Amino acid sequence: MSRKKIALIGGGQIGQILALIAAQKELGDVTILDIPDFENAAKGKALDLMELRPLGGYDVEINGTSNYADIAGSDVIIITAGVPRSPGMSRDDLLNVNLKIISNVAENVKKYAPNAFVIVVSNPLDAIVYSFYKVSGFPKNRIIGMAGALDSSRFKAFIAMETGYSVKDISCLVLGGHGDTMVPLSRLATVGGVPVSELISADKLTEIEDRTRMAGGEIVKLLGRGSAFFSPAQSAIEMAESFLKDKKRVIPSAALCEGEYGIDGLFIGVPCVIGSNGIEKILEVQLNDAEKTALQATVLHVEGVVKSTGL
Ligand code: APR
Repeated sequence: MSRKKIALIGGGQIGQILALIAAQKELGDVTILDIPDFENAAKGKALDLMELRPLGGYDVEINGTSNYADIAGSDVIIITAGVPRSPGMSRDDLLNVNLKIISNVAENVKKYAPNAFVIVVSNPLDAIVYSFYKVSGFPKNRIIGMAGALDSSRFKAFIAMETGYSVKDISCLVLGGHGDTMVPLSRLATVGGVPVSELISADKLTEIEDRTRMAGGEIVKLLGRGSAFFSPAQSAIEMAESFLKDKKRVIPSAALCEGEYGIDGLFIGVPCVIGSNGIEKILEVQLNDAEKTALQATVLHVEGVVKSTGL
């Protein structure tokens, strides 16, 4: 059996961590693609990772390039090409510059790797993944946005920090857009099957929900330059791994909704079953009135950003 191929479009902060984790997990051979100005940087990172192989003991190839022909035959493509935010910026402020970049990336991916499963990470996520879908014409099961995996991980992390209990036993779901309007669903969060409402006070839970919504910005402010990269990379890897190993994990992700949750024609964060056919199913959960109102607000927000792409 030959190895799988993973192409990383964008070899910056997230791209380099993606390459490291994909190699450590031996998910397949890795190609890091960046713009010509950063081709040598991509090659340098790839060579560094090749030299780490004897220590890590992983038998995969890692290459750097700026030539799209090198992504031919990729099974998975993870796109982080684009600009991250700086302190004070919202993800939406990145739209104009990242829209141009994603259009170029989509044309090339369509040309060189038309059968790949594509995971978009670049922000503003919901509009950028929509733009990739429009420009590439990829089927909806093979194009997905990484957001909910990260937002849920942040939600879980804050619950773990509050309770002191293992992150392994925390289960929770964040719906909606990847921005300040996202909907962390405390009602469905559990620790080892015990509802969090029995472990954490209502006021504290509201605080945790707010911190989850603003978690990306909290890190942008602390870093002073660029945005989070470790946790976004691991989140995208979980999605890639579920596809490559047909694990059928249920991972909240931005998927094209066509009727689910009453949403039509938008990529929004919903629980997705990810297997070898890509997004195999969107799971629907009954929401109460307050949750429905919050979801409508996030949908309205995403719709506005998507409209401004003109696509
Ligand atoms: N093709 C390929 N790579 C590109 C292109 C392009 N057309 N345009 C830019 N890039 C590359 C940059 O050269 C850079 O190396 O994308 C990389 C982005 O890396 P960083 O600037 O370090 O950004 P990162 O932190 O990885 O975030 C990437 O993901 O989470 C989002 O908001 C974040 O939109 C940002 C993206």
